[in-house]
Amino acid sequence: MKSLKTIILAAGKGTRMNSDKPKVLHAVSGKPILQYVLDIAKALGSEKTYIVLGHQSGAIQAVIKDPFVAVQQKKLIGTADAVKCAESYLRAYRGDLLILCGDTPLLKQATVKRVVQRHKRSKAVCTFLTAVVHNPRGYGRIIRDTNGAAVAIREDKDAAGYERDIAEINVGVYCCRAKDLFNALKTIKINARKKEFYLTDIVEYFAGQGHKVETVETEDSKEGLGINTREDLAAAEAVIRRDILKRLMLGGVTVTDPQTTYIDADVKIGTDTVIHPFTFIERNVRIGRNCSIGPFARLRAGTKIEDKVEIGNFTEVSRTKIGKGTFMKHFSFLGDSAIGENVNIGAGVVTANFDGRQKNMTKISAGAFIGSDAVLVAPVKIGKKAVIGAGSVVTRGKTIPDGSVAVGVPAKIISKGTRK
Ligand code: UD1
Ligand code: CA
Repeated sequence: MKSLKTIILAAGKGTRMNSDKPKVLHAVSGKPILQYVLDIAKALGSEKTYIVLGHQSGAIQAVIKDPFVAVQQKKLIGTADAVKCAESYLRAYRGDLLILCGDTPLLKQATVKRVVQRHKRSKAVCTFLTAVVHNPRGYGRIIRDTNGAAVAIREDKDAAGYERDIAEINVGVYCCRAKDLFNALKTIKINARKKEFYLTDIVEYFAGQGHKVETVETEDSKEGLGINTREDLAAAEAVIRRDILKRLMLGGVTVTDPQTTYIDADVKIGTDTVIHPFTFIERNVRIGRNCSIGPFARLRAGTKIEDKVEIGNFTEVSRTKIGKGTFMKHFSFLGDSAIGENVNIGAGVVTANFDGRQKNMTKISAGAFIGSDAVLVAPVKIGKKAVIGAGSVVTRGKTIPDGSVAVGVPAKIISKGTRK
């Protein structure tokens, strides 16, 4: 989209979370809340994104890896002040500014795009997003005149009488002409009750000046959910989890029991793979086609699984690549490993990847057979078609050559290179 820059408000402390961690870093389906919002700005082609930070800004900058300009808000005195903090970066800018809140992970990219498009087409000075909800408590209410035009946003604390029953709320997504916005901000006075400068007051100002203010309503009212408490966090998680499973199922993945399947954001799974109940798949895991995962499996970050792999019950795989056609069917742990094609990981096999100081790699080459209950003390290398006897312990630093058989505790090579 042409000439669009974004400001994300994320300086708030998130007092109601009761947390030592900044609110916007709490994860929903494995991904920080703020990242969801940032991803939208990115997808809409925002030229530059400014994130207003205050509380624990260092922690946020350490986690969020995408490029953005960190803007420091020294005192947290409201959303209008937060936007003002970015003004010095935008003095010469004449385009549109998209303003998002860092605590709304359920927002859909398509919805925000509608706001921006409506704004550009209507030539309004400001266009903002509303939602009609069952319980408007805690949100700003939309006040409309007899023609239906939005003329003010009344914050929950200030809403009185009939205003309290207004079900149309402010989601916290605004698209404004930058220059007019900063002019409007100059006029905003402190809210006497909350001792804060409200960004939402720009609507009343613009309407009073006879400027055109447009609104767009969400298709799904849930999109407006702003995370203020841990209960909100759990509610968002439930919605996003359902969306993720729906997307995967539409893409050709069988999820036997969505109720007990937990798959994080950004996980990719190939067609005709079956995910059995009580399975947990964490962020960015990649799974190929025609695999079978679970029941009771946990696939952790950094895991990449090729086609036709079977991962059975009571298994954990972490930071590991698994080649095509490999089986790991019963209670087993693979961590920091590279597993070739057509390997058999017997029941109870464990990679001992942590030596108390650091994580070490295990390499198992194509066609190897690891007997039940074997322990591989990393770093170790198991050659192609090698066999490790049941109950063996392959000790640290060992290489078992291609086609060899090793057994015992510690494992000794009893036949070298005989298996082709
Ligand atoms: C705000 C809106 C409300 C809307 C709701 C939607 C105002 C005055 N009210 O209320 O109309 O219905 O969002 O979720 O804007 N922030 C800062 N600096 C500050 C204060 C806040 O950066 O000084 C950030 C917060 O980190 C947060 C966002 O702005 O990401 C919204 O602030 P929050 O305190 O959550 O506002 P609400 O009371 O939810
Ligand atoms: Ca909020």
